[in-house]
Amino acid sequence: MSRPIRVLFVCLGNICRSPLAEGLCIGSVERRGLEGRFEIASAGTAAYHAGELADPRTREILEQRGIQLRSRARRITPTDFVYFDHVLAMDESNLRSLLAQCPEDHRYKLRKVLALSSGGDVVDPYYGGPAGFERNAAQLEVALEAWIAHWLTDRRDSDHA
Ligand code: 4NP
Repeated sequence: MSRPIRVLFVCLGNICRSPLAEGLCIGSVERRGLEGRFEIASAGTAAYHAGELADPRTREILEQRGIQLRSRARRITPTDFVYFDHVLAMDESNLRSLLAQCPEDHRYKLRKVLALSSGGDVVDPYYGGPAGFERNAAQLEVALEAWIAHWLTDRRDSDHA
């Protein structure tokens, strides 16, 4: 039996977008009955909000979908690049920051989260209203379906030791 596929979602503060992606991905995986197949987490490139629960606007969207997310914000660490199989950035700035920190032989794990769907960025919603979070959630839901389908059919990923 192969170990779970390890996925890390990354934004700047780890309180708005990446916990939203984490929660939506957990929800989608659970709906498909695939809990044991994935290990899903999130982190930020900055530590401004380390230790905090996700922003209430993110938690509200997740709760509307029956998902209770209890994870606390943390900054990405060097070992994350080794441990996780896929590290998905919300925007170009996050990706550049990850590329600058990631050891070269793990850079293939880094992508933008919308790479398989619309392309472009999941825009920082922090200073806006709830509509920005709703838009982020709609983009992420499409993107995550594409990623989950991709991971399930990628033999290299499902063959982890
Ligand atoms: P996130 O949003 O990167 O999606 O978690 C932000 C959260 C906090 C800040 C910026 C973006 N901030 O500047 O504190």
